[in-house]
Amino acid sequence: MSHLIAPSLLSADFSNLRKDIEMVNDSEADWFHLDIMDGHFVPNISFGIPVVKSVKKYSKKTLDVHLMIANPEDYIERFVKVGADIITIHVEACKEKTAKILKEIKLLNIKAGLAINPDTDFKVIEKYINKIDVACLMGVFPGFGGQKIIDSTFRRCEGIRKIIAKNQVKCHLEVDGGVTAENANKLLESGADVLVAGSYVFRSNDPKKSISDLKNI
Ligand code: DX5
Ligand code: ZN
Repeated sequence: MSHLIAPSLLSADFSNLRKDIEMVNDSEADWFHLDIMDGHFVPNISFGIPVVKSVKKYSKKTLDVHLMIANPEDYIERFVKVGADIITIHVEACKEKTAKILKEIKLLNIKAGLAINPDTDFKVIEKYINKIDVACLMGVFPGFGGQKIIDSTFRRCEGIRKIIAKNQVKCHLEVDGGVTAENANKLLESGADVLVAGSYVFRSNDPKKSISDLKNI
């Protein structure tokens, strides 16, 4: 199967979200990536449950909800209720509760993802590899769109791909942050199979074409 594209709505026009949702619906995108930030786990606040509910109303794609929040376990059910198809939590936010929270997500019959920050040892993924559907490798420190990808991401991506192969599991490897058409090919070669792109898509003159360019690399 070819790789998947997940445009991040963080860089969309919030004054006309419906237009951007329809654009993604009509595009070659596979998932909607929704970045939830609480101003605590990350130094920024984005949007929350009502916005996910509104996106669900018009979206024809899988909703990939990325929780950059402290105590995600307190909110999982509510995000599922408004239509999340995948919920990704951060190992740095969950710490020793990570396995328990991943299990809670799976019990709600949706997919579970685990994200790691650029300064977290990627090998931690192996501990949870049998419990996740998506390994989310941050290419930047989470909190803001439009940052440049950190160089070590490619090598870390290769490392996680090896862990997935070694354990013979069906797990997506998603790279989130700093993805552009210039580095997408190298990310795919490094083992990624889901590319999240926010600013590259929404700040371009032709977002639909930018999605297509990422899809047809
Ligand atoms: C980073 C978010 C990303 C971000 C990606 O905190 O998790 O999903 O929106 O944006 P770009 O593609 O602009 O780096
Ligand atoms: Zn994200």
